[in-house]
Amino acid sequence: MLRLPVKKLKQGMILAQSIFNQRGASYLVKGQPITKGYIKQLEKVGIPTVTVTTSDPDFQLLPPDDIVAEETRANAIKHVYHAFQTTEQDGHLDVDMMEDVAEKIIFDLIDRKANLVQLTDIRLHDTYTFGHSVNVAILSSMLGMLCHYTKKDLQILTLGALLHDLGKIAIPEEILTKNTGLTDEEFAVIKAHPLRGAQRIHEMENMLPHTALLSAIASEHHEHIDGSGYPRGLKDEEIHRYAKIVAIADV
Ligand SMILES: [Fe+2]
Ligand SMILES: [Fe+2]
Repeated sequence: MLRLPVKKLKQGMILAQSIFNQRGASYLVKGQPITKGYIKQLEKVGIPTVTVTTSDPDFQLLPPDDIVAEETRANAIKHVYHAFQTTEQDGHLDVDMMEDVAEKIIFDLIDRKANLVQLTDIRLHDTYTFGHSVNVAILSSMLGMLCHYTKKDLQILTLGALLHDLGKIAIPEEILTKNTGLTDEEFAVIKAHPLRGAQRIHEMENMLPHTALLSAIASEHHEHIDGSGYPRGLKDEEIHRYAKIVAIADV
């Protein structure tokens, strides 16, 4: 399996991981041979890299199983998308559904005996916030397992990771997707997302358990242990351990 920039794709390579759109629907399905048309399409929608296998005997690559089931990932993206929309619209979150999503991720990781070698495959930039949130949740959950977290801790950590960028929903799309240098004002808008997300989570206090922990993850996931992060420049022990894990998983 190879992760290649879209520019380097060649016809006849086989897609090794499905590509999802922001609502969790498959955009291109794993196993599909790459065509010139697909390459053009991928460039057009701004997907930077894709994972492929090739029949070239020099590589002898087999498509690996994804670290969680495709259905789990697609469902998770769909529900995170929905959750971000509803919390923005009317402050409501389907808590049971989000807990199920976290649970299913943990279950798949345990069931598939995910190993650390696969970590590199999911530390990917995802074009969309929702796919990104799911990647960060999967990776956080794996890191939590390596730290021997209890099932309950894993649940909170995974849910917190799914919601860590909740505050991004309020950032205008043109700022989020801007490739060139951001102005000071635009950067200030981006820097506001951790606290905005934490605030949204606080507002759901009566429907969402463990809001203190979940909002700590949201508010502190861009802090760095040397104090160089934002928004508060917290250091070392001032940053919650769950937020540190999500920060590692957040790329
Ligand atoms: Fe973030
Ligand atoms: Fe993030």
